[in-house]
Amino acid sequence: MKLIKLPLEFQKARIILEKIRNAGFEAYFVGGSVRDTLLGLPLHDVDIATSAYPAEVKQIFKKTVDTGIEHGTVTVLDHGDGYEVTTFRTESTYQDYRRPDSVEFVRSLEDDLKRRDLTINALALSLDGEVIDLFGGLEDLKKGLIKAVGNPNERYHEDALRMMRTVRFASQLDFEIEATTLKAVAENAYLLEKIAVERINVEWTKLLLGKNPKKGITGFIETQLFAYCPMFKTMDQVFKKIPSLEQLHFNNEVTAWTLVCYLSLDNHKQVSKLLKAWKCSNELIANVQNCFSALALLKIGQIDAWNLYTIGLPSFEMANYVADMLGFPRDMTTIQDSYKALPIKNKKELAINGGNLIKDLQFTPGPLLGKTLNTIEKKVVSGELRNELSLLEIAARKIQND
Ligand code: CTP
Repeated sequence: MKLIKLPLEFQKARIILEKIRNAGFEAYFVGGSVRDTLLGLPLHDVDIATSAYPAEVKQIFKKTVDTGIEHGTVTVLDHGDGYEVTTFRTESTYQDYRRPDSVEFVRSLEDDLKRRDLTINALALSLDGEVIDLFGGLEDLKKGLIKAVGNPNERYHEDALRMMRTVRFASQLDFEIEATTLKAVAENAYLLEKIAVERINVEWTKLLLGKNPKKGITGFIETQLFAYCPMFKTMDQVFKKIPSLEQLHFNNEVTAWTLVCYLSLDNHKQVSKLLKAWKCSNELIANVQNCFSALALLKIGQIDAWNLYTIGLPSFEMANYVADMLGFPRDMTTIQDSYKALPIKNKKELAINGGNLIKDLQFTPGPLLGKTLNTIEKKVVSGELRNELSLLEIAARKIQND
């Protein structure tokens, strides 16, 4: 039996489990929060599973909201926090490969855990810190294995999105996919066609932002999952190129999508078309298009401060990061100097100030100094003059002599 100390995030929810237990029912922490605790990762949300039926949960707590009662979920409100409490359940057939046609509430934890997707996601944690591991999840966590619970074909027929989750977790945790599970993903990949784009996008984004996206993408290609994502049908280029990249790690959604687009598309129009097909937000599409332009300029060696500024790049670091990843030959210092020379939005950002004019150029405090700074500022803002001290000093001297 494995015992662990409950992390802080669980301490807050203790009271919920205690109340359910005092009412004579079983209650456990389940799902991703147990997996992440055992891996020492930060927790997002805490899910609770119980043998109490939804009506019984509502009797135990004063404040509840029906957030998914047909699937057994009631949200319990406590001191400004909300906790999702879901009744142990089994799921019937899945005709649309997405949602079970019906769920059946049960009293047995084992029945609830055995309908879950992966062994590492089928662990439960009691109030006393006891880990309940009925399907070898602890061993798989130790070995770094992504493995389906029971018969993988059944798990994927129940919910085809689980195949995306399988490759996503391989990337997110940098785990290997167990052989039988991988084979089942390849055999059932065609089922992905029935899944809504929005749901696939959530998993794809988590895959890109994982610890080892190359691993997830390789799984995605090897199992042919990509062939059944309509949004990817025209993108085989990206799948040929990504596995050959040496290092791959994305710090955010924009850089991740920029690289995917950059490796497979030729122009802005195609970027917009692809991201719209993926149902990405307008903000994301605009940011990716900006980065896409920056990369095109970097590649042909034409990037300078003005280009960076006019295309409204979200951040200079971002362009550097993606450019490094693609291995573009470029002179870092030139680009960094250009960045410093970006046009300014207000006087404070000007590379020259009154102090420089007085000390270096022997200006005397007075109206000429103010006028000179204003003129320089206008020229820099309009792009006529680069925001570099040496250039601005030349301009100031000229104004002084005029
Ligand atoms: N689950 C499942 N099949 C799915 C989705 C979820 O069996 N298609 C189960 C798993 O036990 C999972 C739990 O429901 O751990 C909670 O699912 P969810 O919150 O979607 O994902 P997490 O595993 O918690 O992972 P993350 O929060 O990192 O997305």
